Formats: sequence, C-alpha cells, structure tokens
Amino acid sequence: MPLVTTKKMFEDAYKGGYAVGAFNVNNMEIIQGIVQAGEKLNAPLILQVSAGARKYANHVYLVKLVEAASETSGLPIALHLDHGPDFETCKSCIDGGFTSVMIDGSHFPYEENVALTKKVVEYAHAHGVVVEGELGQLAGIEDDVNVSAEDASFTKPEQVQDFVERTGVDSLAIAIGTSHGAYKFKPGQKPQLRFDILEEVGKRLPNFPIVLHGASSVVPEFVHTINKYGGALDDAIGIPEEMLRQAATMAVCKINIDSDLRLAMTAAIREYMAENPKHFDPRQYLAPARAAIQGMVEHKIETVLGCAGKA
Ligand code: G3H
Ligand code: 13P
Ligand code: ZN
Repeated sequence: MPLVTTKKMFEDAYKGGYAVGAFNVNNMEIIQGIVQAGEKLNAPLILQVSAGARKYANHVYLVKLVEAASETSGLPIALHLDHGPDFETCKSCIDGGFTSVMIDGSHFPYEENVALTKKVVEYAHAHGVVVEGELGQLAGIEDDVNVSAEDASFTKPEQVQDFVERTGVDSLAIAIGTSHGAYKFKPGQKPQLRFDILEEVGKRLPNFPIVLHGASSVVPEFVHTINKYGGALDDAIGIPEEMLRQAATMAVCKINIDSDLRLAMTAAIREYMAENPKHFDPRQYLAPARAAIQGMVEHKIETVLGCAGKA
C-alpha cells in the first residue's frame, strides 16, 4: 500500500473516540518494531521523523525504510515531519515523499506563526500533503529548541479558531501540560493535564483533530531496568496513561511518543550487554531492542491509543 495522509485516519479516530500513535523513527530496527506491533494489532500508524533524525539517518534512507514498511505490512502508514523548524525543511520533506508535515511556529509571536504556517499549508496542499500547526509551548528539549518549564505556556483557546481559519492547517498541536523528554514533572509534583483547555478547544473547533506532543508515560519498568544496569535516570516522570487515554476519547486524534521508545530500546540493550558480556554481533542486541519497541507499541495501542483493529 502506498503511504497515506492522516486525513482519513483522523476522521475515523475523531468519530471513534480513539487516537493514532505517532512514533518517532531513527533507524531500521525502530521502524520494524513499530510496524510489527501495528501488523499484530491491525492498527494505523504515523511514523514521524524529526530534523535531528534526518540529520542522523539521512532523509532518503528514512523515506525508503518507511516505504518498505508500508509495502510489506499493507497497513495505512503516514510519513510525517515532526517539529518542522522552517519552510525550507517542510518543502524538502513535501518534495521528498512525506505525506504530512508539522510546521512548528509555536515559539514565534502569534502573527509570525500564522504567516509561516499559512505559507507551508499553501505549498503542502498544492502537493497533496497535510499540515500540523502548533499553538502554545511545551516545556522540554527538541533539537535546537529548549523551553524551560517556566517559559512553557498553555494554549489559549480563544486563539485556536482564528489560527485554524487563517492558516488552513489540517490538525493542531496544543499545550495542556505535557512536555518533551523523560522529566515531565518535578519530583513530588502531581502530574496533571489541563483537560479544561482541551475541552474548550474541542468546543471551538468541532470535528477538528488535536495533537498531543510530549505524551510518553516514562514506563517505570524500563527506567528500573536502565538504572539496574548502570543507568542514572533518577526522577524520570511521565504522563499517566489513564490521562492520555482520556485525551484520546476527546478531540485528541494523534499522540506523539518518542521517549518511551528510547527507554524501551535502551533498557533492552543495557540488559543484553550486561548479561552477555562476550557477545559483539550487533544483531544479537538489536533483535531484543526491536522486540522491546514492538512490545512498547503494542502496549500503547491497547492501553493508551485504543486504535487496535482500526487499520
Ligand atoms: O519532540 C521531539 C522528538 O522527541 C524528537 O527528538 O529532535 O531528538 O529527534 P529529536
Ligand atoms: P515524548 O518525549 O514525550 O516521547 O514526546 C515526543 C514528541 O512529542 C515528539 O514530537
Ligand atoms: Zn513534539
């Protein structure tokens, strides 16, 4: 099956009260682990590539690997640019085989965000590609942008209608208290999300797909394994899974997960290395790493996203 856009995925997800997982990919084993989970549970998938992933693995390699995943699995798979930093990066992905791009103008003043997003939408739509915009700022680190918790700001519901109408975006990422990375809350702080903002956004944008970034749960099992085998990920705290599940039943149609994949993969490799000190064939430790990715994605599909059987 050729790569698809997220249009139908989001229509179905909105109506069905579930979300599609958007998983960050950087190499073959990560892609294969995610796709094996999607095949087993017959789930639609969004595979997303950050600017950092393009720098690490090369645009063409990633596109070909994702095309191979789509061809061999037969699943509906969208290839999405995560946190597109500028028009040129978005254009390069639109011209180079992506079916969806995010333009992240959230750190610009409002009018600049509108103008940049509109420019990307015009180019993308002329080429059959859909666009995700962002309003409000999450805390955390992504590539060159590092937003401290103090500088993070929730999305203002009174802006969303104007933003969507003027830019023509197909989906909107909002900030309701999630954040990037493995340290989402301070030790002792009670994790909470602003469901009131999500609800208000949903009222102002009927039938419109909302995106949640920074949505890893930092599954404790993997943090413990990493720490057991010499890691030092103390105080890592994620978003409770029941909160993400609740968001998925509301207007949230896309949930972004990267850190949980990184933790699962790293835990599997650390464990394998510690228990097999004489092994040095990368296939020996990458196979359990790939299996750990698969297990993590299956868990997300069943527990958080609710998209099993929706491919
Ligand atoms: O939101 C950011 C994603 O986790 C991608 O991270 O920029 O290090 O590839 P990255
Ligand atoms: P996490 O760091 O919570 O996995 O978020 C990933 C993300 O939002 C990618 O855009
Ligand atoms: Zn993100």
